[in-house]
Amino acid sequence: MNSIIERERWNTKVGLVFALAGNAVGLGNLLRFPVQAAQNGGGTFMVPYFISLLLLGIPLMWVELAIGRRGGAYGFGTTPGMFSTLWRHPAARYIGALGVLIPTALIIYYTYVVSWCLGFSFFSAIGSYVGETTREGMGAFLSGYQGVEQNEHFSGIGMAYLFFVITVLLNVWILSRGVVKGLEWLAKTAMPVLMILGVILVARVLTLDAHPDNPGWDVATGIGFIWNPDFSLLTDAKVWLAAASQVFFTLSLGFGAIQTYASYIREKEDLALTGLATTGVNESVEVIIGGTLAIPAAVVFFGLAQTQEIAAGGAFSLGFLSLPVVFQQIPFGAFFGFLWFLLLFVAGITSSVAMSQPAMAFLQEEIGISRKRAAVVLGLGIFILSQPVVLFLGHGVLDEMDYWVGTFGLVVMALLEVLLFAWIFGMDRAWEEITRGAQIKVPRIFYYIIRYVTPLFLIVILVVWGSQDAVGILMMDGVPEASRPYRWGARLMMLGILGAILWGIHRHWKAHPSLEEGKSP
Ligand code: TRP
Repeated sequence: MNSIIERERWNTKVGLVFALAGNAVGLGNLLRFPVQAAQNGGGTFMVPYFISLLLLGIPLMWVELAIGRRGGAYGFGTTPGMFSTLWRHPAARYIGALGVLIPTALIIYYTYVVSWCLGFSFFSAIGSYVGETTREGMGAFLSGYQGVEQNEHFSGIGMAYLFFVITVLLNVWILSRGVVKGLEWLAKTAMPVLMILGVILVARVLTLDAHPDNPGWDVATGIGFIWNPDFSLLTDAKVWLAAASQVFFTLSLGFGAIQTYASYIREKEDLALTGLATTGVNESVEVIIGGTLAIPAAVVFFGLAQTQEIAAGGAFSLGFLSLPVVFQQIPFGAFFGFLWFLLLFVAGITSSVAMSQPAMAFLQEEIGISRKRAAVVLGLGIFILSQPVVLFLGHGVLDEMDYWVGTFGLVVMALLEVLLFAWIFGMDRAWEEITRGAQIKVPRIFYYIIRYVTPLFLIVILVVWGSQDAVGILMMDGVPEASRPYRWGARLMMLGILGAILWGIHRHWKAHPSLEEGKSP
């Protein structure tokens, strides 16, 4: 049963902000951000990026914190219960299923990628890829590791499994220790480590000497590329969509994960400043550390034109293929390579536990099993369900899931929750929820932003997408014939998970019909 007394709460305010920042700061800050910026015109990208931060990011952060803290007060740790307190209609809890599905589907592939970072920090330290001094060579190294091809570095996928199992076990262990001893402890330990690693690496990149023979291959050009806007690109819808999605992804908004973390906030604790502090830490890591590392380092060694080409190849090609080539050309490269992948791993692990927590709360509250058992079930679940991702990586199973979860699903989720909160629950009560206990005065303009601007912005995003991409992506245009069955399999798996969640909700509410009314805190 949901009981107010049993719920764990964050122990300290610092722990809360660190935990939320650890949730938000992840691979998105260090790999996805620089690549999105480079693919979308560098400095031009920053304009819609900061506008999206103001009109979507910060308002939704407050909305999700408020929905979560309110849900926690009613004894709910996931969106099915939370939404049912906002709207007393049975549909609310089924809509809330999205907030369990999205993080759970995400964790299935995110954990695997986080485990690559662990593997690569190990390989950097022991010098496994020394001698692969081209991106193609590193590509072969990575493909060998992933079991996509066999070569002199790897004869099979064993190593990838080893690091994957270690990563999953680490997750299970932290989750099984609970909110305070597990999540809060991890965040308070890992976030300072992350900052230190980040600062060391930034100092290293900023002092890289310009390429002797090629004018313009220097750090200043790289940083200039990220910051000088070319306003002619601003009318391109694609750049706006990319910026808005990056804001969502990096702040973990629209996933159900912030709400779950917020459900462990004490009822009278401030949200307004907490949300701003979390956003501030995340954006500092993203813009300062994420913006200074990968792209400028690549510009010094490959030049601007090639860096743009590298970025077009995606986040992994920049982080896993190009930077190892760079490390091999600087003194103590093995050490800096180790630090870089360790930084990614630390950032990733605090996010991976955060995206696991909704499923943890769901298993404990809706399915009714103990925390330790939930952690084991989840660990096994992640391992088993990720097999298609691991085994059929070359067929784009990961990309397929990432599109539906990490690009499309979160916008739908964000729109539904802001409509529920600001329109069905009502904006005046919503505003009261956001500002209760606030340690700063939230500017009144956000009342109107949350009510009108944020939902409209989200609707526009969905309409533009719907008209530009939806049909093509649904029909898998451009996907090789041979890969389609695997991608359909990924879709079916996600539908299967959704079905299981819906069934869990149905069963739980049938057993506890009193929840329908929602009890007062
Ligand atoms: N914000 C994380 C990052 O930047 C990724 C992320 C997206 C996430 N959604 C999430 C993390 C949900 C935790 C929970 O990498």
